[in-house]
Amino acid sequence: MLKEEAIIVKDVYFSYNGFEVLKGVSLTVRTGEVLALMGENGAGKTTLIKHFNGLLKPQKGRVLVFGKDTREASVAQLARRVGLVFQNPDHQLFAESVEEEILFTLRNMGYPESRVKERCEYVLRLFDLDKYRQRSPYTLSIGERKRLAIAAVVSHDPDVLVLDEPTAGQDYFNKSKLARIINAMKMKGKGIVIVTHDVEFAVQIADRVALMANGRVIKVGSARDVLTDEKGLRAARLLPPQIAWTASLLIQKGFTMSRIPMLPGELYFELARMLDSRGEGGNL
Ligand SMILES: Nc1ncnc2c1ncn2[C@@H]1O[C@H](COP(=O)(O)OP(=O)(O)O)[C@@H](O)[C@H]1O
Ligand SMILES: [Mg+2]
Repeated sequence: MLKEEAIIVKDVYFSYNGFEVLKGVSLTVRTGEVLALMGENGAGKTTLIKHFNGLLKPQKGRVLVFGKDTREASVAQLARRVGLVFQNPDHQLFAESVEEEILFTLRNMGYPESRVKERCEYVLRLFDLDKYRQRSPYTLSIGERKRLAIAAVVSHDPDVLVLDEPTAGQDYFNKSKLARIINAMKMKGKGIVIVTHDVEFAVQIADRVALMANGRVIKVGSARDVLTDEKGLRAARLLPPQIAWTASLLIQKGFTMSRIPMLPGELYFELARMLDSRGEGGNL
């Protein structure tokens, strides 16, 4: 699949009233892949993603969205191509009903009127929200409101979808469902950015991972390289995924592995291979 550079962040600095939060951040977001942005609280993740649709403008450096400098474009223009879902859904929801929330977003984003109803139905069903269509968003649980906020942004089909802590408050079923929706969007060529502390979720869906600490991107690379780098993870105050961690404990005990596994099947393969080489293959 063709991967296009969707958002290019070049050496960006940003302060809130003299309090420096971004200290020279560079990062590229591509279409057709999932990028997980991870790191400790206060690292600057939310401040960074607010630069992706022009809500915040760099005080130094540049942000290009599909080639356009965000300082020269309006949020309304940029928001059609880059959809942001905030951590707190209450900053985003305001309609009288779940259905109205989606319909309003579609109309506001200039979706053709002839397709608004059909698109709304599709998204309500996709996010398992159709049974709540007449309810006020404020009567939904926090997890459901979060799902509605994501559904509203997905509905107008932006080229890049940016989700701030999407798994917070979601149960296993909804997390798996969200992972499937994100994957399907990636297959359609969308770029997805997920801000998360959830390393297991990142293992499931991320192609690349960027670690942030103290206003800087301290590491960026393939999910496997970054999520198995214990030193980098520690610097971003994250624990390694359970499988990678188990593997590194086994390696410390003298086991050898061809690479650090991330998934249960990969760990199983490494253990089976090792026991086989000892002639104990039948034991696993
Ligand atoms: N509107 C604001 N005014 C002043 N300081 C802010 C504002 N928003 C965030 N900050 C501060 O900027 C730092 C980075 O915040 P944020 O980007 O939200 O980090 P993260 O999303 O990684 O937790 C924090 O110290 C936070 O307190
Ligand atoms: Mg945040």
